[in-house]
Amino acid sequence: MDEFKLNTQLYFGSRAVDCLGKIDGSNVLVVTDGFLEKSGMVAKMVQHLPMGATYQTYSNVKPDPSQELVDEGIEMILGLHPDVVIAFGGGSCIDSTKAILYFARERGLERPYFLAVPTTAGTGSEVTNFAVITRGSDKVVLIDDFLAPDGALLEAEFTRSVPTKITADTGLDVLTHGLESYVSNSSTPFTEALSVKALRLVFENLPVTFRDGMSMRARTRMIEASCIAGIAFTNAGLGINHSLAHAFGGRFHVAHGRINAVLLPYVMRFHMGEDAYREPYERLAHELGLRDADELLQRIIGIRGELGVEERLADLGIDASSFEVELSGMAEAALHDRCTPTNPRPVSKQDLVNLYRDAYNG
Ligand SMILES: NC(=O)c1ccc[n+]([C@@H]2O[C@H](COP(=O)([O-])OP(=O)(O)OC[C@H]3O[C@@H](n4cnc5c(N)ncnc54)[C@H](O)[C@@H]3O)[C@@H](O)[C@H]2O)c1
Ligand SMILES: [Zn+2]
Repeated sequence: MDEFKLNTQLYFGSRAVDCLGKIDGSNVLVVTDGFLEKSGMVAKMVQHLPMGATYQTYSNVKPDPSQELVDEGIEMILGLHPDVVIAFGGGSCIDSTKAILYFARERGLERPYFLAVPTTAGTGSEVTNFAVITRGSDKVVLIDDFLAPDGALLEAEFTRSVPTKITADTGLDVLTHGLESYVSNSSTPFTEALSVKALRLVFENLPVTFRDGMSMRARTRMIEASCIAGIAFTNAGLGINHSLAHAFGGRFHVAHGRINAVLLPYVMRFHMGEDAYREPYERLAHELGLRDADELLQRIIGIRGELGVEERLADLGIDASSFEVELSGMAEAALHDRCTPTNPRPVSKQDLVNLYRDAYNG
């Protein structure tokens, strides 16, 4: 039996921020990061809360959020018992909030209303039942319906200040979500439709937002693409591109979307090398109006180049000896990553070692 779920109410379009004024609750916790708090963006967002609502912030979130950071957030939430929690930020803020709520539940916290407000157009975490937490050098993927936010507010204005490089990294994450969810062994006609729509929006709008970050039309399309790809992959799953990126990112702390983008052509070639696994790329290429899977690969290499992405893992500044020391552990972690079971092609640890080597050396 196949299923398709969306557990999150979406608020988007003109005056989407009005949803904040309709929140039923008065004791609000905002989980965010130091930059977003200092920049005044949190203050702008909470202006829209209902009259009389009070709020506190937990603003210690850092990229690739650690279990220690989550534990600190749990102590804070157990002290406050808010009736509303707003995750305000990129995937790191939304995932931290998810993990805080998940583990605080085990200590008796009753679930508050949970609204996610993304400030990057990237992870789609505002609608997924995934959260990624770093424990030691491993990125651990939690998957549970409890993690899906109750509401998601898509307001491109909150992404206006994203710098060019982070616009590229996060947008390429959307691209990877669209591709991996489409070719996943658990895709359905429903998820495929969403993956294709997300990819069309990315092809048309990501280069525009990269060249002109003030194009709010393109930024609006990108925040929609991010969410649409999130709905696709929370239902279809992802694949080894993400597994390899998680294990590499946990050790070398390069932006998640950038690692995905460096790896993409290597992973695509690995799949496309066998007819059975090449087939979904051929179908996808046709749905996108391209000639064949090779043209799709060239299109992706082209966008990657246009956005200034490195061609090899070595170009990310990782020296060969550190890479070799971590290689076996990374491949092992990627093999057991929760994104691997939905990969279209079954893989061995040796396949993953070979892929890391290919992507490192180019
Ligand atoms: N839960 C999921 O479904 C899912 C999916 C993919 C990735 N992830 C995880 O999400 C994390 C990455 O999230 P991300 O790519 O959104 O980046 P991020 O949340 O780590 O943020 C990256 C940087 O962008 C800055 N930033 C955020 N919004 C900004 C704004 N409006 N203006 C200026 N700067 C801003 C942040 O302060 C931070 O320094 C990784 O840990 C990744 O593994 C989760
Ligand atoms: Zn991702």
